[in-house]
Amino acid sequence: MSLVSIGEISLNTFDQGSGAPLLLVHGFPLDHSMWRGQINDLSSRYRVIAPDLRGFGKSASQDDKVTMAQFADDLAALLDALDVGEPVTYCGLSMGGYIGWQFVQRHRDRLARLIQCDTKSKPDDDEAQATRMKAADHVLKHGPETLVATMMPKLFAEANRSSQPDAVEATREVMMNTAPSAIAAALRGMAERPDVTNELSQIDLPALILCGEHDAISPPDEMRKIAAAMPQARFVQIDGAGHMAPLEDPQAVNAAIIEFLSDT
Ligand code: MLT
Repeated sequence: MSLVSIGEISLNTFDQGSGAPLLLVHGFPLDHSMWRGQINDLSSRYRVIAPDLRGFGKSASQDDKVTMAQFADDLAALLDALDVGEPVTYCGLSMGGYIGWQFVQRHRDRLARLIQCDTKSKPDDDEAQATRMKAADHVLKHGPETLVATMMPKLFAEANRSSQPDAVEATREVMMNTAPSAIAAALRGMAERPDVTNELSQIDLPALILCGEHDAISPPDEMRKIAAAMPQARFVQIDGAGHMAPLEDPQAVNAAIIEFLSDT
């Protein structure tokens, strides 16, 4: 891992391997370590780039709000800083997926393919927006404990919560150690993310839409619809996994990614 300057901030970034570049973008409120099941395995075949987003992990920043567009622009600046001229495969999970839609809109020329894991194309409704804004204030005043306690049961498939205690605990720890300011800033940014559903039909990229069978946040039925709306997308369900499919079943997820990258 090293700190890569992208202007006024630096992003703590894993960058290893050679071959086609694969950019792994974590969910909320996590860091690059959620990709640990991909990082070693896939960096023997591809150049794997996995940053901590602005404010998360060891990428410090002090924003009140970070939009999905800002995160996308940070990632384009990161590719510049790393001298990645070749179009990349963008792979995001959940919030990383919301950022992915913005990356497509703003930096299409930097993309060869798109992998969207356990994410949504629809925005928050009024109630979800209000909940996020309240959660942002609460985290700033009292720390992440309540938010973490609310989110944890939704992240892993029920069976994996008891069979994968190390992954569950590591995820909880990352969330608890995330800066409250970063959590609040991303919550505010996610609350105002746009609806991209009507734009899916214009995404002219080979795409892999991947979803855990038991994802309680972005369920497979919703993600099947996303894949159906995209002209070059395939849908893969990860059986037995939840929202954290890449962490819960790295073998199945890596196999789907490798197959997609070799076919497209
Ligand atoms: C994530 O995993 O990134 C979050 O669940 C996204 C969200 O809160 O909408």
